[in-house]
Amino acid sequence: MRRATSRNLCLSLLPAPSPERSDAPAAAVDGPRRQLALQFAAVLAVLSLAWPYYGIRGEALPWPQTAFAIGTAALLLATLSRQPWWWRVVHALFTPLAWGVSLLQIDPAWFLLGFMLLLLVYRGALSGQIPLYFSSRQTVDALAALTRDRHDLRFLDLGAGIGSIVQPLAVARPDARFTGIENAPATWLVGRVRTAATANCAWRWGDLWQADLAAYDVVYAFLSPAPMAALWEKVVREMRPGSLFISNSFAVPGVTVTHQVDVGDRRHSRLFCYRV
Ligand SMILES: C[S@@+](CC[C@H](N)C(=O)[O-])C[C@H]1O[C@@H](n2cnc3c(N)ncnc32)[C@H](O)[C@@H]1O
Repeated sequence: MRRATSRNLCLSLLPAPSPERSDAPAAAVDGPRRQLALQFAAVLAVLSLAWPYYGIRGEALPWPQTAFAIGTAALLLATLSRQPWWWRVVHALFTPLAWGVSLLQIDPAWFLLGFMLLLLVYRGALSGQIPLYFSSRQTVDALAALTRDRHDLRFLDLGAGIGSIVQPLAVARPDARFTGIENAPATWLVGRVRTAATANCAWRWGDLWQADLAAYDVVYAFLSPAPMAALWEKVVREMRPGSLFISNSFAVPGVTVTHQVDVGDRRHSRLFCYRV
């Protein structure tokens, strides 16, 4: 197997792959900082022209027009730098919407509250470009089939969400031990309640990067393209020979899969399996 390089992750300006199909390299993912820089560049470009122009004429800056000009400039920059279509929409609408919402004169504390509530659920999206979505019931069945022959199985779900994988698997396999690690407070809490009655399922609060993978025979991850190259380095470093790493939907860039399984669910999930 070939090792992935972190260089892949950083350099490309190509559009990001869809979450459903991830054979494309993780290089395609742009970080939030790049998007912030892009929006900031559009603001700077428009204001650096508009402010002197209206200042010299002794007129106030017309905010609606300025907001739409910033949106247009951001769309242009996003298109020129080949951002995915949905980022272009976000860039085009962000400043006009921000201006529109400012007219509503909502107390800023509400925005702070909304942000904090979102953080309780989507912490991973902010800290590591790993959003929240759940594995399907068919994925649980596929994982059960993939691990059926492993006796004394120790299974880990990295970024376990609300326990959609480990809870039903633990019920189906009382002879095996399952662990889920999750770091978003609200999802962790739901998973905690959900797995409380399942004796062979450990539900941990923590960072997946701190987990010791050596203790598990099968490690499952359903994350995003962003962490895959770095995660593979951790897998190779820590997992024992003969153990199995399974990534739902997001292949490890530059590494040949041992085999893959089409789950056959609504979102066409595919499990990429790597024997270590
Ligand atoms: C796409 S969801 C998958 C949830 C679950 N594994 C499933 O298959 O249904 C990814 C999860 O990883 C969590 N996550 C993201 N970054 C994490 C980190 N550094 N440590 C632990 N969990 C993380 C997110 O909060 C989210 O719940």
